[in-house]
Amino acid sequence: MQQAIAILDSGVGGLTVAKEVMRQLPQEKVVYFGDTARTPYGPRPADEVRLFTRQIVEYLLQFKPKMIIIACNTATAVSLEELRARFDIPIVGVIVPGARAAIKSTRTGVIGVIGTEGTIRSGAYEQALRRISPGLQVHSLACPTLAPFVERGLFRADEAETVVREALEPIMNVPMDCLILGCTHYPFLADAIGQVMGPSVKLISSADETAREVSTVLYHRGLLAETGILPMHQFFCSGDPKIFQQIAKSWLAEQISITPVVWQVP
Ligand code: SIN
Repeated sequence: MQQAIAILDSGVGGLTVAKEVMRQLPQEKVVYFGDTARTPYGPRPADEVRLFTRQIVEYLLQFKPKMIIIACNTATAVSLEELRARFDIPIVGVIVPGARAAIKSTRTGVIGVIGTEGTIRSGAYEQALRRISPGLQVHSLACPTLAPFVERGLFRADEAETVVREALEPIMNVPMDCLILGCTHYPFLADAIGQVMGPSVKLISSADETAREVSTVLYHRGLLAETGILPMHQFFCSGDPKIFQQIAKSWLAEQISITPVVWQVP
């Protein structure tokens, strides 16, 4: 049986990473888990996010994946190090790849970061950015309304721009040249965010850079798939499979089948 790359998120946001992994690594099988019953993770206490993330990693290990991607910024911010210490499998998060992509892109050294309350409170992006390039000016903003808006499947609705404008108002006039979409849900709203921030601000999604990192890790470990056949991906979610399927189908432009998972939360 082909060993998969397992991807987890609090809901549909990690599909932005899954899509890029599927594009850059078309021979790799993806097993995706969206914790849609307990989304969003952003407002939850760090300990709770750590518990949920650990539970999902344990669930995904039954598929014997070759690697796990924590495709949720909130979960990456609070649990990546602990997970790496606990589980004997390569685990990739989305924050360092996102920070690297922003540093590659900025010319002025003024960078914006938007994310959930949990991600922004953790300071994980600022730390990752300044560890690489200490002189950067970083403006961070929590946008708690955006991930729930995406989870409701409304990202193509007319009101998307209004919701985004209200959320981004505090940083709209900051003279940044790039803005990190520090939540994997935000690429769903990239058009509206681009409209609000204007053409001089480049939007940075960690999805591309994360997929590149996955590719590099698999290459160096001799784990790249060489099957020559297109894999059958698997998608699981803990909440309503209908809405998940609808969003996944529209984002991935593929008909996918979803297996609902009922959680036995301790
Ligand atoms: C959330 O669950 O609140 C958003 C996921 C993320 O932080 O990427």
